[in-house]
Amino acid sequence: GAGRIDVLDEVGSTNEQLRAAVTRQARGPAPARPWTDLSLLLTGHQSAGRGRLDRVWTTEPGTALTFSVLLRPAGAGGRPLPTQYFPWLTLLMAAAVVEALADVAGAGARIKWPNDVLVDGRKVAGLLAGLVLDPHRAPAVVLGTGINVAQDELPVATATSVRRATGRDVARAAVLEAVLAAFVPRYRQFCADPAAATGPGGPLRRLVEDRMETLGRSVRAELPGGAEPVTGTAVGLGAHGGLLLRDGAGAEHEVTAGDVVHLR
Ligand code: BTN
Repeated sequence: GAGRIDVLDEVGSTNEQLRAAVTRQARGPAPARPWTDLSLLLTGHQSAGRGRLDRVWTTEPGTALTFSVLLRPAGAGGRPLPTQYFPWLTLLMAAAVVEALADVAGAGARIKWPNDVLVDGRKVAGLLAGLVLDPHRAPAVVLGTGINVAQDELPVATATSVRRATGRDVARAAVLEAVLAAFVPRYRQFCADPAAATGPGGPLRRLVEDRMETLGRSVRAELPGGAEPVTGTAVGLGAHGGLLLRDGAGAEHEVTAGDVVHLR
C-alpha cells in the first residue's frame, strides 16, 4: 500500500512526532492523508532525538539519516499479528540497514542484538521501536532508525559514521532508498506468515542471524528491573526475536530485553 510520507526540515524526534500524529488520528476524524501501514516520517534534523532507556540521541544538523515508519502488521485477511512477534520488526530493519550500508557504501556492518548496527565494532546506527495501542485498531509499532552517515567526528569513541568507517560520502537519500528497498519485501514476507518466516530454519530468522555479530560469542545480558544478569554463549534467536544464551551447564535462556555486553 501507499503509506503517507511526510518530510520535515527539523523536528524534535520523528518517533515522538509520528506517535503523536497516530494518536491524534485515532481520537479525531480521519485526516485527509491518513497514517497507514508503512507510512514514513523523515527529517533532515532531530533537535531532541531519543534512544533506548530514555537516553538522548544527538546528531549534528545534516549528518544523520533519521526517520520513523508506522507498522501495523496484518496477515491474511487483515488479521493483526500477535504482538509477541513485534521484536522481529526491529531486527528486520536492522538487517535492512546492514544490507543498505553494504550496497551503497561497501560497509561490512553487523547487527548488535537487539537494536544497534555496528561497523568495525562501533555503532553506526540505532533503532528504537515503540508500541502504539488503541482499543479500536490493531496494535502498531513506530519504528525509528538513526544512521550516522556524514559525521567527521563522533562524540564518543564507541560510535562511528559511514564516512568515518569507509571514507565514502554517500547521500542520505541513497541510504534511505536502499534501506526501504531491503526492508519492505521482508516485512511483507514476515506479515504473510511470521511463524514460518522466523521459526527455526525460517528464511527471516536466518537472514537476521547471518548478520549478527553477537552469535558464538560469550555475552552477559544485563536485564532491566534489577534482575540477575544472564551469562552464556549466544547461540541464536528465539521464536520471538529474543537472544538465546547457552550457559556453562548447557541450559538455554532466551533473553528478551536488556543490554548485551561482550565478554572476552
Ligand atoms: C538507540 O541507539 O538507543 C536508538 C537510537 C534511535 C534513534 C532514532 S532516530 C529516529 C527515531 N527518532 C528518535 O527520537 N529516535 C529514533
